[in-house]
Amino acid sequence: MTHHLPRHPALSRRSRALSGQVRVPGDKSISHRSLMFGGLASGETRITGLLEGEDVLRTAEAMKAMGALIERRDGTWIIQGVGNGCLLEPEAPFDFGNAGTGSRLTMGLVGTYDMTTRFIGDASLSKRPMARVLDPLRQMGTQVLEAASGDRMPITLRGPKHAAPITYRVPMASAQVKSAVLLAGLNAPGVTTVIEPVMTRDHTEKMLAGFGAEIEIEVDAEGARHIRIQGQGRLAGQEIAVPGDPSSAAFPLVAALIVPGSEIAIENVLMNPTRSGLILTLQEMGADIELLNRRSAGGEEVADLRVRSSNLTGVTVPAERAPFMIDEYPVLAVAASFAEGETLMLGIEELRVKESDRLTAVAEGLKANGVDCTEGKDTLAVRGRPDGKGFGGGTVATYLDHRIAMAFLVFGLATDEPVAIDDQSMIATSFPEFMDLMTGLGAEIEH
Ligand code: S3P
Repeated sequence: MTHHLPRHPALSRRSRALSGQVRVPGDKSISHRSLMFGGLASGETRITGLLEGEDVLRTAEAMKAMGALIERRDGTWIIQGVGNGCLLEPEAPFDFGNAGTGSRLTMGLVGTYDMTTRFIGDASLSKRPMARVLDPLRQMGTQVLEAASGDRMPITLRGPKHAAPITYRVPMASAQVKSAVLLAGLNAPGVTTVIEPVMTRDHTEKMLAGFGAEIEIEVDAEGARHIRIQGQGRLAGQEIAVPGDPSSAAFPLVAALIVPGSEIAIENVLMNPTRSGLILTLQEMGADIELLNRRSAGGEEVADLRVRSSNLTGVTVPAERAPFMIDEYPVLAVAASFAEGETLMLGIEELRVKESDRLTAVAEGLKANGVDCTEGKDTLAVRGRPDGKGFGGGTVATYLDHRIAMAFLVFGLATDEPVAIDDQSMIATSFPEFMDLMTGLGAEIEH
């Protein structure tokens, strides 16, 4: 297990104007799903642009352990899948490290198989709530043979002989929970229905349809989405080009906004509307972000972004937008620190169950560096100072959370005094190229 890695601090300092043209690695959500669906489908799947971060590589290992043949040839990932319903019982536990998405989706995928699977992870993942996935699985017939208190890892599952298809209303805004139930439904006879009152990222639905699953979506009078999947159908291998991750693009993007005189381009960024809440919010704050060359690629919209440093003004970010930018609040709080006036973020209680309690981690990090902010139960208010005067000089506790680490290194690029983070090692889970990409743009980061 990856529990006791030595800490590896880093430090960023006020930088001259950033410039250049970059590509960020492939989208993490789509990368996990590409490997899972490719490993499950019959025939060959070829993936280009896959995010080769630690989280995603663990999903590849899990699929291999269940019989998929996966190899990387000249940057293309080639998978021979087992066929829907034909996953093999793994011989060893799945160690998902830091990866919430990989572990929760895999629990759904295997939970309806008549086999035993065990899930372990690092100190961060072992604290995260898994009941949200285990509850619907129990309804489908899965036994939870082992779980730490509060349904946390280590977890051992035993699937039923025949799973029961269910109708499940997702109680929180979570694409991971929605996806876990849909994947469990793939191996249940009949139709499994997920009701999603609040729309979340829709990669699972879109990609499963692309692999040939019988899936239909209806929106009811209250606006809830009813997603129905027919179990035990055939899935067929696909060609997938993974677009750039908007959640990774967020870091150079905000860096260019807050470092005076900057102008950068970020190419080939996924523009799915369930993922682009940050860009909308920053534009409302006055950010100069141009979307160029908008095009469709592999069923998703992508664009190139041109970003210039901007004078930002605080806004209120409505609760309804949270699912469309859920991973971007740490770096939004950084942008808000350099905005005129207050930025108020509403309805963000889900931040408390990410890789860390991000609401507390962000508030602590900002306060340690002189930013005036208030943490509420499910809100964060940041009162900015455009010149960044008096900011910096503190050390940020990252709590094994890659996005806390990257957000605060970006913060330090525009502060008076340098900003230190206690650990950079987790950045490799989602954005292994982060340091090279940022320093290539002119960011002053010691790592
Ligand atoms: C993800 C869903 C989100 C997000 C995570 C990736 C996914 O989690 O925070 O980084 O790929 O489905 P929740 O479903 O817990 O909101």
